[in-house]
Amino acid sequence: MPGSIKNRDRFYRAIAGPDKISLGAILYFYGADRPRHFSFHSDTVFMSVQTYINDHKARFLEELIDLLKIPSVSADSRFKPDMLRAAEFVRDKIRDAGADRAEIFETPGHPVVYGEKTIDPEAPTVLIYGHYDVQPADPYELWDSPPFEPLIKNERIYARGACDDKGQFYMHIKAFEALMANKSLPCNVRFMIEGEEEIGSDHLGAFVRENRELLRADTILISDTSIIANDVPSIEVGLRGLTYVEVEVTGANRDLHSGVYGGAVANPVNVLCEMIASLKDENGHITIPGFYDNVAELSDEERAALNDAPFDLAAYKQDLGIERTSIRPTLDVNGIWGGYTGEGAKTVLPSKAYAKISMRLVPNQTDKEIEALFTRHFQQIAPPSVKVKVKPHHGGLPYVTPTDSIEYKAAALAMEDAFGKAPIPTRGGGSIPIVALFEQVLGVKSVLMGFGLDIDGLHSPNESFGLFNFYKGIETIPLFFEHYARLKKQ
Ligand code: BES
Ligand code: MN
Ligand code: MN
Repeated sequence: MPGSIKNRDRFYRAIAGPDKISLGAILYFYGADRPRHFSFHSDTVFMSVQTYINDHKARFLEELIDLLKIPSVSADSRFKPDMLRAAEFVRDKIRDAGADRAEIFETPGHPVVYGEKTIDPEAPTVLIYGHYDVQPADPYELWDSPPFEPLIKNERIYARGACDDKGQFYMHIKAFEALMANKSLPCNVRFMIEGEEEIGSDHLGAFVRENRELLRADTILISDTSIIANDVPSIEVGLRGLTYVEVEVTGANRDLHSGVYGGAVANPVNVLCEMIASLKDENGHITIPGFYDNVAELSDEERAALNDAPFDLAAYKQDLGIERTSIRPTLDVNGIWGGYTGEGAKTVLPSKAYAKISMRLVPNQTDKEIEALFTRHFQQIAPPSVKVKVKPHHGGLPYVTPTDSIEYKAAALAMEDAFGKAPIPTRGGGSIPIVALFEQVLGVKSVLMGFGLDIDGLHSPNESFGLFNFYKGIETIPLFFEHYARLKKQ
């Protein structure tokens, strides 16, 4: 439809003014490479939805600021009332955007927010998943501005959760609002916004199993990942799995004088360090027997495609950085402690030492299998002078979105329309363990259409989210619905 594309360009010129920065940026991208996938209908819808977004963009941002002010830290029980406040905020916004139903479901942990809008029982249903909980903001002193007092600077919004995941799931509520306001929602929508993602989604599995009917959908759409760059759109088609354990090494039954006993009695901190050091050889390979047995080997073509990322990081590629953070598993100590760590010096031979160890998994490793292999090996390498306990924490399976699925194609077309460039499928290093469970329990695939950037600083001090990315996401999501509904009909 060359005519309609020309119209859209004209439309952009008309609405892009000096005070409308993100639209200026959009114009730039549209100029570079024009979208090709619009039907006349979606083009018209796109324009009216775009007008709506533009007319309400200031309010959208103010609402996100209000949400970011709520310190919904799931890991810390002191924030429990804030978790409920955040859930209520999300419920209210889903309701106000036009849902038929918006509710809070209690769980034994933090509540789940559920919402739905059915336009036509025959139309496909898209389940939007996201999480309103955030990582702890510690260490506070490393933030340039307080983590729960959102600040806009250099076209970015700074706050804990700005990108992970409040800024990202909020785009879906605003895209839904824009479609509802234009009476042009092409799919049925379900929302499931949980409050325990950052602590392992312990109670979401049971919630999903108990509410299969409520959550019945054709696909799951998630924005909780990143793109390569604002002019290099990409879709993460892989997430790594996770095995997370805590180990405890005990020597003597109490702390001892390190002069009187040192040299004779095993020091569990020393022993733990040696044990951990032995988990990798000099090449960085993990030494746990059987650890790599089920790691899927990629074909040469798949590896070439993976290493063909268009960004100029020759050194990074050379040392296989891309493969190491996507298709290879890891083992990392997240924390280690024991003995005296207070001020000054205390001569003591500690009784206990601890470490928290995570392993990122790739297809076809399973968290249970790796947990068992780790536990057996760690017991085996312990010298007789100490006792070892391995306590499992949360885990999850890796996940891959097939690029020949309708949901992937719809997301790719939506991104191509919005960015003016086809997205590159990438394999991400992070984990969203619940995604594999969705497939097991609900029998549907997920598509990870995220809009973050590597510079956003997830889980770090000064986390931020680009305003371009926030608005770009709101603009792209309606296009996903359009393409998905159309492709499902074919
Ligand atoms: N949104 C992230 C996962 C992510 C980040 C995926 C960037 C891809 C790119 C999610 O909130 C997260 O932090 N997940 C945890 C796992 C969870 C079990 C605590 C992670 O990956 O460490
Ligand atoms: Mn997240
Ligand atoms: Mn996270």
